[in-house]
Amino acid sequence: MNKKNLTDTAILTVAGLSKSFGGVKAVNDLSFSVKKNHIHAIIGPNGAGKSTLFNLITGIIPPDEGEVRFFTTDITSLRSDQIAKHGVSRTFQNIRLFPDMTVFETVLIGTYLLTGAKLAPALLRTKAFRENERVAKQRVEEILKFVGLWDVRDEYAAQLSYGNQRRVEIARALATQPQLLLLDEPTAGMNPKETKELMDLFTAVNNEGITILIIAHDMNLVNTLSDHITVINFGEKLVEGTADVIQKHPAVIEAYMGKVKVDA
Ligand SMILES: Nc1ncnc2c1ncn2[C@@H]1O[C@H](COP(=O)(O)OP(=O)(O)OP(=O)(O)O)[C@@H](O)[C@H]1O
Ligand SMILES: [Mg+2]
Repeated sequence: MNKKNLTDTAILTVAGLSKSFGGVKAVNDLSFSVKKNHIHAIIGPNGAGKSTLFNLITGIIPPDEGEVRFFTTDITSLRSDQIAKHGVSRTFQNIRLFPDMTVFETVLIGTYLLTGAKLAPALLRTKAFRENERVAKQRVEEILKFVGLWDVRDEYAAQLSYGNQRRVEIARALATQPQLLLLDEPTAGMNPKETKELMDLFTAVNNEGITILIIAHDMNLVNTLSDHITVINFGEKLVEGTADVIQKHPAVIEAYMGKVKVDA
């Protein structure tokens, strides 16, 4: 039944990562690795440090201590655009879309990072620029068809349904051709139908060979999709393993399942 080519190669390694905000240790000496081709879930109560972890991995904020490696490359001190160029892409917990851009334009912007579009060639519309643009538009078309947004490509992204707005963000993240995609609570606030459709999309993305690190509270999603789960509490790793192991773990039941309302 296992159609995926699961490997033991670590695509991402977090080692001794720490970040404090004032007196709050949001992430505290955290270490784990994500294996290539896995869907790896990060779960934990509100305020456990999950989004902070993503911000540290993607260079939004610098860690106080510790290291982040993409394969064997140290990406700890790189800027977020440099990390994206290495092949790490993400979506944010709160949807971030420009109000006056169409779906197509939004995703096209995502490809600029790869084509390295510069202002002068763009203004002069050099041959190289036009060729880059043609390739980029072709890629946007492929992605929009893949995520199921091709029919709404000319609509304003921010005016779509909530589920489709999330799809736009995922499409934009895919535009940088990531090897690793980080999703921060992508189905929070979605209805069951939207959630199911997004779960199918994550599976399809993963089947394209893209490793997924996903933060989620929805235990049905976590248990259905995850090859591996890391549970975080107070910025520290509480336990990790497969869904079977996690569900039965007393510390998880105590610290997480028992006290937290599981998804809305
Ligand atoms: N920029 C910041 N400045 C100050 N404190 C912050 C900042 N970002 C996060 N924190 C604090 O760090 C802790 C971890 O927050 P974080 O957002 O990472 O949690 P989370 O696990 O993503 O929670 P949730 O499930 O609610 O999204 C919280 O106590 C939060 O208030
Ligand atoms: Mg969060």
